[in-house]
Amino acid sequence: MNSESSVPPGPDGVPHRRRVRYSGKNPRRFDQKYKELDPTRDPATFAKVVASGKTPAGSHIPIMVSEIVGILRLQPGDIVVDATLGHGGHTRELLAAVQPGGRLIATDQDPVELPRTEARLRALVAERGWPDDSLAIHRSNFAGLPKILAAAGHYDGVDGLLADLGCSSMQFDNPARGFSFKHDGPLDMRMNPQRGQPARAWLASVSPEALARVLEENADEPEAGALAAALAGRDFPTTTALVNAIRRRLTDPEEAEACTRRVFQAVRIAVNDEFSALDNLLRVLPACVKSGGRIAMLSFHSGEDRRVKHAFAAGQRDGIYAAVTEDLLRPSADERRANPRASSARLRWAVRA
Ligand SMILES: C[S@@+](CC[C@H](N)C(=O)[O-])C[C@H]1O[C@@H](n2cnc3c(N)ncnc32)[C@H](O)[C@@H]1O
Repeated sequence: MNSESSVPPGPDGVPHRRRVRYSGKNPRRFDQKYKELDPTRDPATFAKVVASGKTPAGSHIPIMVSEIVGILRLQPGDIVVDATLGHGGHTRELLAAVQPGGRLIATDQDPVELPRTEARLRALVAERGWPDDSLAIHRSNFAGLPKILAAAGHYDGVDGLLADLGCSSMQFDNPARGFSFKHDGPLDMRMNPQRGQPARAWLASVSPEALARVLEENADEPEAGALAAALAGRDFPTTTALVNAIRRRLTDPEEAEACTRRVFQAVRIAVNDEFSALDNLLRVLPACVKSGGRIAMLSFHSGEDRRVKHAFAAGQRDGIYAAVTEDLLRPSADERRANPRASSARLRWAVRA
């Protein structure tokens, strides 16, 4: 009864694939977690997973929301940008803060998750009775923001802007995207799978010298040279193949996990060219925000935070920013306990002169 051939074809002639079912109470595989993947189907399961300190499959818990809302000081009628839409957690709050009369413009480069998030947010806009054009979503690298804002007629820039850097939980948790060393999947790691090369191809063609630089610069890997010599130029079709190659070199399990985490982070940053994208965003930010407008940037490791800190400090020296963060903001202990993925978050802000 479960075979594909016994399932009648759909209107396009393609056999309908049944949703994978699991027999027990505790689904182990991502494709079995359908109760979590669709929160509207079983809100109780979704709430239970959140209460246990985990991120439900296919979603993302927004980080430092109240701090970000406080920093941006949005008013009804304001125009605000969410440069990293993700699951739309911050977007919902910022969009609500500028109603009535305001507008939120969001970008994200992920063609897989963006349509799902847009559908959820469109339903919210309709439910609250906000105008359709109070929300505009663009599938784009955030470096394209100046063009997007100019095309929308916001030549003087917007009142507030948020960038929540890195990957979403939906990306990390979906084995098919190949981001996580905790799930077996194709070694891909692209936020936009329609561009660039997957991590598998990147690793197979990188030189040991270039990989050593990436491991050092993107993840402060202490054994960068030796690891690069063992991994560069080799074909790892799956995340598990790469994990096994790293772990074979280390006997202590904790050390092996920490090293695997660093290698995956470094390769992901390289494959998505994340530092160049961030440098571009930091360069165009002053043109995107009007005088008095406020910027919040959430980063997750020292390579990102260093760039944000230096760009804001240089901008203040040059009179581009009137004020910038003096002390880095971190999530509260309660937030870190409730959402372990918030632990490494660092928040900085700047006010346009
Ligand atoms: C940490 S998640 C954002 C989560 C979101 N704030 C929420 O609460 O749901 C980062 C998102 O930014 C996107 N992203 C990362 N770099 C980007 C870039 N250069 N241009 C556009 N989107 C980017 C990723 O695809 C991902 O969806």
